[in-house]
Amino acid sequence: MGKIILTGDRPTGKLHLGHYVGSLKRRVELQNSGEYDKIFIMIADAQALTDNADNPEKVRQNIIEVALDYLSCGLDPEKSTLFIQSMVPQLTELTTYYMNLVTVSRLQRNPTVKSEIQMRNFEASIPVGFFTYPISQASDITAFRATTVPVGEDQMPMLEQTREIVHKFNSVYGETLTMPNILLPENQACLRLPGTDGKAKMSKSLGNCIYLSDDPKDIKKKIMSMYTDPNHIRVEDPGQVEGNTVFTYLDAFCKPEHFAEFWPDYVNLDEVKEHYQRGGLGDVKVKKFLNKVLEAELAPIRARRKEFEKDIPAVYEILKKGSEAARAEAAETLHDVRAAMKINYFDDMALMKEQAEKYAKG
Ligand code: TRP
Repeated sequence: MGKIILTGDRPTGKLHLGHYVGSLKRRVELQNSGEYDKIFIMIADAQALTDNADNPEKVRQNIIEVALDYLSCGLDPEKSTLFIQSMVPQLTELTTYYMNLVTVSRLQRNPTVKSEIQMRNFEASIPVGFFTYPISQASDITAFRATTVPVGEDQMPMLEQTREIVHKFNSVYGETLTMPNILLPENQACLRLPGTDGKAKMSKSLGNCIYLSDDPKDIKKKIMSMYTDPNHIRVEDPGQVEGNTVFTYLDAFCKPEHFAEFWPDYVNLDEVKEHYQRGGLGDVKVKKFLNKVLEAELAPIRARRKEFEKDIPAVYEILKKGSEAARAEAAETLHDVRAAMKINYFDDMALMKEQAEKYAKG
């Protein structure tokens, strides 16, 4: 038993600040807290293929990007098992059994699936694999007996669905699976970091991302053109802080010590906000401060990435070792699952005996 973490990301691009504040940063903290017995971090290539079936090359190319992002943020293969989803075939087996416990209408009601179908214009032609990915996600979580799933808010419906499957499985076949809990970011601004254009979500397809691996020049450019308050035209104008992306990012990243270091005119973020709301504080000054705050967070990550980039075969080796360990772990759960469902025929001496006796009588 114990406390076990499982979480992961689709390898469809490099990871961005939304991933970082939504989950990645937290994972590293949880890893280093020493409170967890096991931590599994999965590169969800099979899930990425559910809406990229025609482009496996994209998934293939991005596995190393995600792995490098993980390592550079401080995930440590000595403490966390980093692995590739499709290298653990037990997950697909588990999905097959779970599929019998979920109805089509339940999947149709999953809000994340609903909005993704809209986003991808899948309405008329939803791939079955895509439609059922919440079930496969339940397999990912339960195969490792995860107690804790640190993810962003958008993954809430997935956790709901997983919990339903666990409940159903355990009531039909007997207590077997571990009930997982979602762990959401504590900070409101981190729940769903908006894109640099102020749109609800940072997303590659919207082109509004700051990537963990962006160089300082690009980050500065992105910050300088960031969405603020469209009515804050002259410096003297009173400005709005709510819905102002620059302030949302500061809420997510700024720490009290940043003021002494980068902006001694103010003692804390509240003072900056008050001045901005009153009028007399220009966007450029706030943006320059945000740039320094972000640099303080991202410079060490970028430096670590450069180190790992020097030995790419070693990174693949980490994933290979991790995938082997993950496979062994999932195999144990599958053993229990098959026993609970009584489809472990060759280990089932009672079944053999019963059948033999039946025919002996005959
Ligand atoms: N759906 C997640 C994402 O879009 C990736 C993922 C796959 C995942 N399986 C998971 C996350 C299991 C947490 C637990 O990024």
